[in-house]
Amino acid sequence: MPNVAGLSMLCLAAASAAVAATTLTDLRAVRLADLSVLPLPFTSRNYSSPWPALSAASSAEQPTSFNATFEPFNDAGRVILGGSPKLTVLVHEQDYAFAHEAPVYFSRTDDVFFCSDAGGKQGRSNATVNNVVWRGKLADLVEQASNGTPTLPHSALRKVNLTDAAGSEIQMTNGGTPYGDGHLLLANSGRGEELPGGLSLTSLAHGGASRILLNNAFGKQFNAPNDVVVHASSGSIWFTDADYAQTQNFRPDVELPKATWRFHPQTGDLDMVDASIVTPNGLVFSPNQRTLYITETGSTQGGDLPNRPKIPAVIYAFDVVKDRLENKRLFAAVPTGIADGIKVDIRGNVYACTADGLYAWSSAGRLLARVYIPDGGCVNLAFVEPKGHLLVTAQTRLLLIELSGKEAVGPKLDGYPSASKRISL
Ligand SMILES: *[C@@H]1O[C@H](CO)[C@@H](O)[C@H](O)[C@H]1NC(C)=O
Ligand SMILES: *[C@@H]1O[C@H](CO)[C@@H](O)[C@H](O)[C@H]1NC(C)=O
Ligand SMILES: *[C@@H]1O[C@H](CO)[C@@H](O)[C@H](O)[C@H]1NC(C)=O
Ligand SMILES: *[C@@H]1O[C@H](CO)[C@@H](O)[C@H](O)[C@H]1NC(C)=O
Repeated sequence: MPNVAGLSMLCLAAASAAVAATTLTDLRAVRLADLSVLPLPFTSRNYSSPWPALSAASSAEQPTSFNATFEPFNDAGRVILGGSPKLTVLVHEQDYAFAHEAPVYFSRTDDVFFCSDAGGKQGRSNATVNNVVWRGKLADLVEQASNGTPTLPHSALRKVNLTDAAGSEIQMTNGGTPYGDGHLLLANSGRGEELPGGLSLTSLAHGGASRILLNNAFGKQFNAPNDVVVHASSGSIWFTDADYAQTQNFRPDVELPKATWRFHPQTGDLDMVDASIVTPNGLVFSPNQRTLYITETGSTQGGDLPNRPKIPAVIYAFDVVKDRLENKRLFAAVPTGIADGIKVDIRGNVYACTADGLYAWSSAGRLLARVYIPDGGCVNLAFVEPKGHLLVTAQTRLLLIELSGKEAVGPKLDGYPSASKRISL
């Protein structure tokens, strides 16, 4: 997804050096019943503040310090957030959306990956310049944020060289997930006319050797592959193909409908599994892999405000029946903006980044809690399992959210699929 989260920001003139560390623990119970009737006069002024009583007005600038709040809406929300949740800004670079999507954490090696905004206003990438995939160790990032919020360049972050053995560069990364034994599976949007997007695999070892797994659907170029997940038991790869490369002007016109696809890398079987969502974006399997959640971001265009309100900003759920999707249903409506990146915890609770922060729903679709992140919300998240912590990309900020509830633990992704179901470099 583009930089919806950062839309309201204007650029500040100059980035300062390290500022005071932003570590927040503000826990405020919110009774949804208190918000059923808002004081009059009342208009929905814009997409980001439907609940004025919950949130301070968003400022036009993205300040270096801010007050996030942890807001349980009910007992189940309190269980997830726990009694002492914490948010830390690991890195903040004013004016550069260096932390956009593809947050991935490898527990065995403590490796963190994420990418900069591909094509967005503050992404420093476009039709002629690739975006950046960053790599670091979480322990180093946490250590360096303990005395103040670091900016870029950051000694614990380096750029990953995404060049395959044939010398092809892998272009405009937007989604990522762990794959097999220490590999990173990426969804790449492609760049320009002749560098198509698709899927690629990068090894954490061997100097980051990379391989392109898929770059076409029956000879046609994908539009802009956005996010990717692995179905653990079958080894199949499921990904969304949106059109943000076209709306952000770094790829030519679409050749295919926007759709969700399934790919078996061992056999090459590729199938479109859904073409009913206007713009499919984030996707995630439930812990038992029998449900697939996909976010609908069709109400935004090219990273602008949701300007097509007739397209619902929702999360859909599907039954996964062998290689197919069945029983599409509306899982949850998104209160603010759109839901971009989406993840599940081991209990099946669903978490999504939106224009004003991170929301959590139960597996039955009940809204449980919000982590309110003023001035831009967040874009995507990854569980730092097994601790119940979240690595969150929020455009000009990389965040660590430490939920203290026992349920908020991510499923183990590192190591899936099993050796017999996966391919290697
Ligand atoms: C959004 O709504 C808030 C609260 O009413 C207001 O302060 C702000 O100016 C609005 N922003 C835009 C872009 O309309
Ligand atoms: C954060 O909250 C503290 C305490 O309420 C307040 O003093 C401070 O001004 C707030 N900071 C911002 C950026 O709103
Ligand atoms: C792409 O970005 C580079 C570096 O920021 C800039 O020099 C160049 O003018 C941009 N090209 C286009 C077509 O916007
Ligand atoms: C990137 O990797 C490729 C292939 O392994 C290699 O040829 C190239 O020199 C590397 N570039 C840098 C800057 O390390």
